[in-house]
Amino acid sequence: MTVNELYRQGAEMLDYAFVENAFFDARWLIEKALGINSAQFALKKDKEVNKKTEVEFLSLIRRRIAGEPLQYILGEWEFMGYPFYVGEGVLIPRPETELLVDFAKDNLKDKKAPVVFDLCSGSGCIAVSVAKLFPKAKVYAVEKSQDALTYLKKNIKLNKAKNVEIISGDIADKRLLQGITPDLILSNPPYIKSDELPTLQKEVQREPSMALDGGKDGLDFYKILAENWLYRLQKGSFMAVECGEAQAEDVSQLFFLAGSITDTINDLSGIQRVVTAAKNR
Ligand SMILES: C[S@@+](CC[C@H](N)C(=O)[O-])C[C@H]1O[C@@H](n2cnc3c(N)ncnc32)[C@H](O)[C@@H]1O
Repeated sequence: MTVNELYRQGAEMLDYAFVENAFFDARWLIEKALGINSAQFALKKDKEVNKKTEVEFLSLIRRRIAGEPLQYILGEWEFMGYPFYVGEGVLIPRPETELLVDFAKDNLKDKKAPVVFDLCSGSGCIAVSVAKLFPKAKVYAVEKSQDALTYLKKNIKLNKAKNVEIISGDIADKRLLQGITPDLILSNPPYIKSDELPTLQKEVQREPSMALDGGKDGLDFYKILAENWLYRLQKGSFMAVECGEAQAEDVSQLFFLAGSITDTINDLSGIQRVVTAAKNR
């Protein structure tokens, strides 16, 4: 059997099992089984596969059919063009979260050595990307989960982001980062309503509930951000947070009541995905 024939067989197995984007996933998995990249696939596709590769590929396909996210099987995923290790215990970086880094790019470009807080850092995708884009910045990455912290450490090392400092702690702890003045606070906190967790896609349910669960109304973490973190902004500095579909109004209201001027940023589908806040006096 050729590489291409095996790839098509795997894609059909995924499709038959109702896995969305079956051909896309099978392509990633065949490349993983062969240890090649996308460009090399074109050169290899008519070559015969050995038994070991076939067994390896079919075992990856079976894991995918069982509901394991593609990114966990691959063990690595890209965000803002940088690689991040991912796996059980850490949230997979999402494309919409890149909006926060885009906001940082616009906002920090005239600052010499900005100080940035990334609250609820997870894999470190936001903290590391900002640190790479602004090598003179100092980025503090706050995370509570021990599993996520393991990935955060590995991803800082993988990307040689020496200007990221890990703060192991709970963002509800008022003592965290006291005495340090941020130019920008970024956060993609957990924001799913607790009772919606069991209704999520089975792949998302494999991700840690601690990364998803935003409490009864999904807003627990925005309340903490409003109470514990907004007052730390100085004139000219900002907070930008990701939120779920239809949450932007509630989040803006919380930040407004905490004394901020707010704005929103839409994602590519026109959904308000990011709320920004600045000091109102
Ligand atoms: C939605 S995930 C975001 C991860 C990453 N920033 C991203 O955008 O992919 C939220 C993260 O918050 C962490 N977290 C949950 N509760 C926390 C708390 N009280 N303090 C600090 N981090 C917390 C979770 O472990 C998870 O890594």
